[in-house]
Amino acid sequence: MAFNLAFLSSVLIILSAFSPVITALSSNYYDKSCPNVDQIVSNAVKKAAANDRTVPAALLRMHFHDCFIRGCDASVLLNSKGSNQAEKDGPPNISLHAFYVIDNAKKQVEASCPGVVSCADILALAARDAVVQSGGPNWDVPKGRKDGRTSKATETRQLPAPTFNISQLQQSFSQRGLSLNDLVALSGGHTLGFSHCSSFQNRIHNFNATHDVDPSLRPSFAASLKNTCPINNRPKNAGATMDPSSTTFDNAYYKLILQGKSLFSSDQALLSFPKTKNLVTKFATSKEAFLDAFVNSMIKMSSITGGQEVRKDCRIVN
Ligand code: HEM
Ligand SMILES: *[C@@H]1O[C@H](CO)[C@@H](O)[C@H](O)[C@H]1NC(C)=O
Ligand SMILES: *[C@@H]1O[C@H](CO)[C@@H](O)[C@H](O)[C@H]1NC(C)=O
Ligand SMILES: *[C@@H]1O[C@H](CO)[C@@H](O)[C@H](O)[C@H]1NC(C)=O
Repeated sequence: MAFNLAFLSSVLIILSAFSPVITALSSNYYDKSCPNVDQIVSNAVKKAAANDRTVPAALLRMHFHDCFIRGCDASVLLNSKGSNQAEKDGPPNISLHAFYVIDNAKKQVEASCPGVVSCADILALAARDAVVQSGGPNWDVPKGRKDGRTSKATETRQLPAPTFNISQLQQSFSQRGLSLNDLVALSGGHTLGFSHCSSFQNRIHNFNATHDVDPSLRPSFAASLKNTCPINNRPKNAGATMDPSSTTFDNAYYKLILQGKSLFSSDQALLSFPKTKNLVTKFATSKEAFLDAFVNSMIKMSSITGGQEVRKDCRIVN
């Protein structure tokens, strides 16, 4: 699981064919200029997670959204300004939260080493810490990302939707240099957190002309989701946890898919290709295989770079 330079260079070569900008990242990037950055970020995440158990899931998802739009350049952290609506205020921002954790970490990092560490690196570190602090694997985070100067709400349309089928998911990932392997491994992020009813209602109400409910859902599970998420008069924040152990980073997600108890069509879709179905089965059977694959794919995803500067305030361009 240790970070390996030969691996990273091959990843960078593969990625360079697809992604906007490739910067060489390295795990010792701040060794001289900000040696305590890993520790500072990890303490900030720990403190926040102790007060609010939903923080780790939020940070992991925030990093994924960041990397899928303009590369991992902290564009997701920028506030809307004037007439420009930022990603944050785009449609699938539902449940993006805990931005204050990154602000706190940045404040403490700036106190130690002003003007040196990018917000994109802080978010990548925080996502790793979120996984570690939920009982998941640890890894060295390659660093040296730069922050971008653009964030547009309309670009959140580039994110994969929970209604996507396997070909649409494959395309979304391959446009970013990520394989079917990466798709299955990274979807395992859904072992953490919560979803609002709106993200899976396509499966439980008016699924299609012949079925009200997606027949790939286990009937008892579909019934409980319908109960939580009625069409009318549902509580504003109604929804379901991704998995019963939604604060523990484990391989339960893959077992649930095989039982017809995944929340999204995009989770269920991982069974549609033999290749991805085999990986789901493998990860359901072996937690170790999942954790290894997850670490490799996280390093790949978080190496899609795109920015230009080191922001002083993560919410505002310099
Ligand atoms: C494969 C394509 C993906 C789709 C279609 C997708 C879609 C979604 C949706 C719809 C939600 C629920 C939002 C809500 O209703 O509140 C969600 C939550 C979440 N996603 Fe994904 N996601 C994908 C990939 C990923 C990846 C790659 C990661 C990280 C490695 C990730 C991590 C999470 C986490 C941790 C949550 C829970 C957030 C929270 O509780 O605050 N997802 N995802
Ligand atoms: C999400 O976007 C809506 C408007 O589309 C906005 O009111 C809300 O504050 C945004 N949520 C976050 C967490 O930024
Ligand atoms: C996925 O959806 C797209 C767009 O609706 C469709 O063209 C394609 O045939 C679908 N692929 C599969 C495997 O269902
Ligand atoms: C509805 O979905 C089910 C399961 O995917 C499928 O067997 C059925 O043919 C679909 N019906 C229509 C009208 O598309």
